[in-house]
Amino acid sequence: MKRIVVLISGTGSNMLAIQEACKQGRVAGQVVAVIANKASAKGLEKAAAQGIDTEVLSHQAFDSREAYDAELKVLIDSYQPDLVVLAGFMRILTGDLTRHFEGRMLNIHPSLLPKYKGVNTHQRALDAGDKEHGVSVHFVTEELDGGPVILQAKVPVFDGDTADDLQARVHEQEHRIYPLVVNWFCQGRLALQGGRAVLDGQVLGESGYA
Ligand code: GAR
Repeated sequence: MKRIVVLISGTGSNMLAIQEACKQGRVAGQVVAVIANKASAKGLEKAAAQGIDTEVLSHQAFDSREAYDAELKVLIDSYQPDLVVLAGFMRILTGDLTRHFEGRMLNIHPSLLPKYKGVNTHQRALDAGDKEHGVSVHFVTEELDGGPVILQAKVPVFDGDTADDLQARVHEQEHRIYPLVVNWFCQGRLALQGGRAVLDGQVLGESGYA
């Protein structure tokens, strides 16, 4: 069983989707810890209710991003994870941290990358008049939301949609695709090689298996 550490800042619905998939045998791994950068992250209670170890490492207790990430690295490493999963962890990571976990850290981002890196992705898709929107799972590299994409799911944008409508539609897809990708990694089928995502020996293109 691969050891998975999940990092969250918020509700933790993706964390829970991965945990459920582990319990049901759809992911060949085990969530060994959930770490949040805020004590108020709702996902902490959900993780604790699942019997998962939880940790809070508040970024507010640190003077610099570098100091925080150095401590975060030690905390994550203390769980000896095979895989680190960012699931709504709303922090920009230092190169030191991303290099340390290179090839074994995944992120989910609520847009069809490379579109809309950063925040407010749903509103930005609406403002641009996009007819489709979606979500991407990618390997984490030093470039924010810029690592190689592994898998994307698209959703339609309907007339009259609000950002909340879109977010809900995207969330459904997130819960479907993130466990799938985590399982590929846990099964040893997915790797970061030469800066590209490789699944079953095949290099994935810009938009993965979309
Ligand atoms: C998810 O929609 C995820 O894609 C997004 O945060 C949400 C967390 O939801 N991540 C980012 O925006 C990262 N840039 P959750 O806490 O319910 O899993």
